[in-house]
Amino acid sequence: MCKKEYEAEARERIMGEAEVLVAASAPGKCILFGEHAVVYGQPAVAVAIEQRLSISATKAASWSVDGSALDPDRHPHITMLKDRWLSDSEPMALHISGDIPRASGLGSSAALSAAVGAAMHRLANPSKGIDRDGLSAVAHRAEAHAQQGRASPMDASTSVEGGVVVLSDRVEGAAKHLYTRQLTTPEGKRSWEVHHLAPPESEVFLVLGNTGVFAPTSKQVAMVADALAAEPTRMREIEAIGTVARRGLAALIDGNYEAVGHAMSENHLLLRNLGVSSPELEALIQAAMPSSLGAKLTGAGGGGCMVALTRDPKQTSEAIELAGGRTLISRIGNEGVRIERG
Ligand code: PMV
Repeated sequence: MCKKEYEAEARERIMGEAEVLVAASAPGKCILFGEHAVVYGQPAVAVAIEQRLSISATKAASWSVDGSALDPDRHPHITMLKDRWLSDSEPMALHISGDIPRASGLGSSAALSAAVGAAMHRLANPSKGIDRDGLSAVAHRAEAHAQQGRASPMDASTSVEGGVVVLSDRVEGAAKHLYTRQLTTPEGKRSWEVHHLAPPESEVFLVLGNTGVFAPTSKQVAMVADALAAEPTRMREIEAIGTVARRGLAALIDGNYEAVGHAMSENHLLLRNLGVSSPELEALIQAAMPSSLGAKLTGAGGGGCMVALTRDPKQTSEAIELAGGRTLISRIGNEGVRIERG
């Protein structure tokens, strides 16, 4: 048995013996349209995926995360949530598990904030249900903190709300308006209208292809900010992404998945021009295209994941794997954060 397996088994044993005070889970997310441009107020669409992150808390002598002492530098999201809801509580051991790959553009850190926040809120307010508005606001602040002040509420809201989430600079009539989010970024004050959308059901799937290349979101977002500062006319590229996102959103509302796929591929070309793709992402996207309705990078790019929209997930997945990617398959839109125990 290797060290990692031994540690996982020991954790299971400890958790089996210790009483679980609360457990919660939250989905990862995949951006269909509008990453990067959304940071500048353009519309964007994200979906909650089937892959989830789970968290459970047991009584302990001191605060810990998966056996390591809770450290504000290593665990900024968790520290912020603990200070928000459980500053005076008895210490706890937190145990994290799940199938969302980390740092790959699938929203694992927002899922962590959503699940930890829901669990801590439940412990602090045992008789109250999940306050999705409050929770996604705190999770957004945690993302912004980790991304040097530049973060849209996309990841946090999608993981908390589930389903399909639409962000825009205006209230969109075709979707259910949830709330307004504001943030002061280094480039100025930003505001987003956050919506929930229930697109018509269809036999379509997302195949997510992971390049395995690590590219921190904060670095990618800062790179785009620097490019725009150096050449302000490039803001036109950001606006063009917004136009394509709006077209993709209309297609999604109509249930026209051929047009959704087309808009995804168009969105990718604009992201590539913006400089946020990578050779590894291009190889996986090219491999997916023949069996897909459309494909693009998803998330901050530079590495991480691509996504293909397909009616034949097996064939698309095999093509991506042959090109060197690791794949996950998900339907569009899944349940948001939920309490599993407690
Ligand atoms: O890489 P991710 O999953 O954190 O997605 C980042 C999406 C961006 O638009 C690049 C940044 C943001 O905060 O919206």
